[in-house]
Amino acid sequence: MKYDVANLALAAAGKQRIDWAERQMDVLRTIRQRFAKHKPLRGKTIACCLHVTTETAVLAQTLQAGGAEVLLCASNPLSTQDDAAAAIVKYFKIPVFARKGEDRQTYYRHLKAVLDAQPQLTMDDGADLVSLLHSERKPQAKKVLGSTEETTTGVIRLKSMERHGVLRFPVIAVNDSKTKHFFDNRYGTGQSTIDGILRATNILLAGKTVVVAGYGFCGKGVATRARGMGAHVIVTEVDPIRALEANLDGFEVMPMSAAARVGNLFITVTGDAAVIRPEHVRVMQNGSVIGNSGHFDVEIDVRGIRRLAQRRYQARPLLQALEISRNKTVFLIADGRLLNLAAAEGHPAAVMDMSFANQALAAEYVVKRHRSLERRVYTLPDELDQEIARLKLASLGMRIDRLTPRQRTYLAAWQQGT
Ligand code: ADE
Repeated sequence: MKYDVANLALAAAGKQRIDWAERQMDVLRTIRQRFAKHKPLRGKTIACCLHVTTETAVLAQTLQAGGAEVLLCASNPLSTQDDAAAAIVKYFKIPVFARKGEDRQTYYRHLKAVLDAQPQLTMDDGADLVSLLHSERKPQAKKVLGSTEETTTGVIRLKSMERHGVLRFPVIAVNDSKTKHFFDNRYGTGQSTIDGILRATNILLAGKTVVVAGYGFCGKGVATRARGMGAHVIVTEVDPIRALEANLDGFEVMPMSAAARVGNLFITVTGDAAVIRPEHVRVMQNGSVIGNSGHFDVEIDVRGIRRLAQRRYQARPLLQALEISRNKTVFLIADGRLLNLAAAEGHPAAVMDMSFANQALAAEYVVKRHRSLERRVYTLPDELDQEIARLKLASLGMRIDRLTPRQRTYLAAWQQGT
């Protein structure tokens, strides 16, 4: 079996952490038991381009239990957990191509290595496999039944491909399931971003002015959790409705040009490019910390900002100091890459449970339904979303009410008024 991981000797440590993650992934475990019995993915090869973490290991095992041949590469050069990668190879016999800190060339070599297995299904977090299948590997795209996409940024790319009429197979936007973005994007990103900031800097958040760029589900999560730690939070937005929402949620709202002057810590979660630029850094206070939790490392103009620096040095392992002048140094977390995975361990397993339950069910859905699907971006049917929520509630030991017959009739009627 071919694979490329940093160090197989880390496998035992990785397995221990995978077991810990699995304990908190009850929904995925339930799906795995059904998959093991009915083998809905039998005979299919699935190439996964995901963050290589302990939670992803549990997903990979679930797909394997469903009868699939699984291959895994990283969806970001800095997010790989080398111990998890080693354990997936050693204990699950799944080929993994991922090393934390791999360069761009290795990153793409690894993507191509999983595509070399001629998968019928691909699973993306950021649409990089789909992009390759629509550029360098066009002939291979014909053999792909469909794909699934984990993240908002990837879904935006794919919907653009759909609009331009270039998408060659159906894609399930896992991100758009309610049991994914309501929880993963908000509570997952909220917690893992704070985790990454603290691991990278160990700064005291209480009393700091934290500027959160973007008030989508991820921004809401980060802003709420930062406030929970005692920070004063400012939100920047381009969407007037989201800006109003942030304001009524109790956050201050202003443009980045104004926020740059007063913030101590800046976090981008917009999904867009060049949100923090040299002109902002020029007016920042001495000691400001800048980081990104959006999928791609484009949200901070790292190159432009570095050009301002007279001197650069490593302040801590994942924190670069940029000396702008004699009395001003700003600090950049994890080279502007997604800090919740680069400096921490990503979202907690309990939330990835629902995201990856969606991935597993989406893979099954593509295998079952690909003949009737068009070359479009689909959301999983609402019944599956509801089922995942029901399973999660059950795993938490929570029960909820059911509609009574009278309530059902009331909701279905239109005649009853005042
Ligand atoms: N994306 C965010 N957190 C993650 C995790 N823990 N595993 C895989 N993908 C993730």
